[in-house]
Amino acid sequence: MAGALGLGLLLALLPVVSASMPGTVVRLNKAALSYVSEIGKGPLQRALQVTVPYFLDRSGEVLQPTRIQILNVHVPQFHLKFIADFGIRLSAAANFTFKIFRVPEPLELTLAVELLADARVAQSSIGTPVISTSYCFPLLGRSSDFDDSNSTSRALLVPVQEHIKAVLSNKLCLSVASLVQELNVHLGTLIGLNPVGPESQIRYTMISAPTITSDYISLDISAVLFLLGKPIVLPRDATRFVLPQHVRTEDTMATVGLSQHLFDSALLLLQKAGALNLDITGQLGSDDNLLNTSMLGLLIPEVARQFPEPMPVVLKVRLGATPVATLHPNNATLRLQPFVEVLAVASNSAFHSLFSLDVVVDLSLQLSVSRAKLQGTTSVLGDIRLKVASSNVGVIDTDQVHALTGSVFEEPLLKHLNALLGIGIALPSVVNLHYVTPEVSVYEGYVVISSGLFYLH
Ligand SMILES: *[C@@H]1O[C@H](CO)[C@@H](O)[C@H](O)[C@H]1NC(C)=O
Ligand SMILES: *[C@@H]1O[C@H](CO)[C@@H](O)[C@H](O)[C@H]1NC(C)=O
Ligand SMILES: *[C@@H]1O[C@H](CO)[C@@H](O)[C@H](O)[C@H]1NC(C)=O
Ligand SMILES: *[C@@H]1O[C@H](CO)[C@@H](O)[C@H](O)[C@H]1NC(C)=O
Repeated sequence: MAGALGLGLLLALLPVVSASMPGTVVRLNKAALSYVSEIGKGPLQRALQVTVPYFLDRSGEVLQPTRIQILNVHVPQFHLKFIADFGIRLSAAANFTFKIFRVPEPLELTLAVELLADARVAQSSIGTPVISTSYCFPLLGRSSDFDDSNSTSRALLVPVQEHIKAVLSNKLCLSVASLVQELNVHLGTLIGLNPVGPESQIRYTMISAPTITSDYISLDISAVLFLLGKPIVLPRDATRFVLPQHVRTEDTMATVGLSQHLFDSALLLLQKAGALNLDITGQLGSDDNLLNTSMLGLLIPEVARQFPEPMPVVLKVRLGATPVATLHPNNATLRLQPFVEVLAVASNSAFHSLFSLDVVVDLSLQLSVSRAKLQGTTSVLGDIRLKVASSNVGVIDTDQVHALTGSVFEEPLLKHLNALLGIGIALPSVVNLHYVTPEVSVYEGYVVISSGLFYLH
């Protein structure tokens, strides 16, 4: 009893936990479904190519086995449509060509088959979409070619045709069911882990049953982000992300809504993984580090006193606070608040901390999609703000340091960030499915990707 109660409590708690995970919504419309039927035609044709057992002619005195082979299955028509609150209806017309190894010479026979099947789309226990055929009916034999046959062959062909029909009515729906199983395995790759950075990964799972109307199917998908194999969770109220009404979903096959929470979580992950940190180093006399102690010594006398000989200077940029992404109507911005330590490298390679700065950088964030990844590029918005946090070299004139560090700091930081954000974060997808001609729109508090889909065979 106590155990059952405990389990009940746990089950009651589970949806709350998952609802607080960063949400995305993936909506697929009729155009996506017709793309599925287009690329599914080949696999359907292959699946329908069943084996037909020998026909045993029991009419004569000797049992006469006749070999029957399907030469070809042609599917001229394959349609899929949504059934509201249920799933998908499949209708297909197939044209079978058989070879009957009749004595004395073989004969070809064609048979038209119409196939109807209804499939429920649901959520599996592991958070993948799962399709199951609930109804399947093959309508057999609208036409058959007996044109060449005389009465003798007709005597054979009528029972052969019956034999074929019996076999097909048994096997075709099984073939459809196993094709659907293969599709389920493929859809299962939705929950595959995708790398975000060196030690971080993202995994998407479905968190509720899909919403199905006659125009689309909408999946609530949540991301779990992992750092060193452990999920990281942002404290947040358990409001589910919903794709707002005004977002148009008819124009492209797929519409993917990404919540602010997903951006917050991804940034938290990058920060916790240390991926945003960088060291700006340089050699004396090189062009890529303008800073050295003799240069700083001109502004800060104490630096000149401590380092009479020019020494290289290193900037250690550390992000202690999580960057904040803000999604405005039509634009996205990113605020970084790095802590920058400025160190001199002594001749024995020891680091001497000179001073440290609290920096605020506002960046504009441009989002784009490549294959199945969301990428970003940034550029600095306005002025980099900085404040001296600590100093081992006496009083520092912030304005002078600003002019100097700003230019030293800005370019490597942008380069680093853009390289990192350019790797991109995996979007909900399945293996081999890419987004094509995607458009990214930023709204207040969420981002929408409208995209075509392309499956790499
Ligand atoms: C089926 O095949 C036959 C013979 O090749 C052809 O005459 C017929 O038009 C085909 N039917 C369909 C629906 O493709
Ligand atoms: C009828 O078919 C049988 C068996 O295929 C063949 O032996 C016979 O010659 C055919 N008769 C005619 C008139 O085509
Ligand atoms: C120190 O930095 C200044 C300014 O970038 C540069 O002109 C000078 O050559 C540097 N000194 C050495 C020794 O690298
Ligand atoms: C972004 O949008 C907000 C709100 O519309 C606006 O206040 C801000 O200036 C915009 N920023 C940029 C960089 O376009």
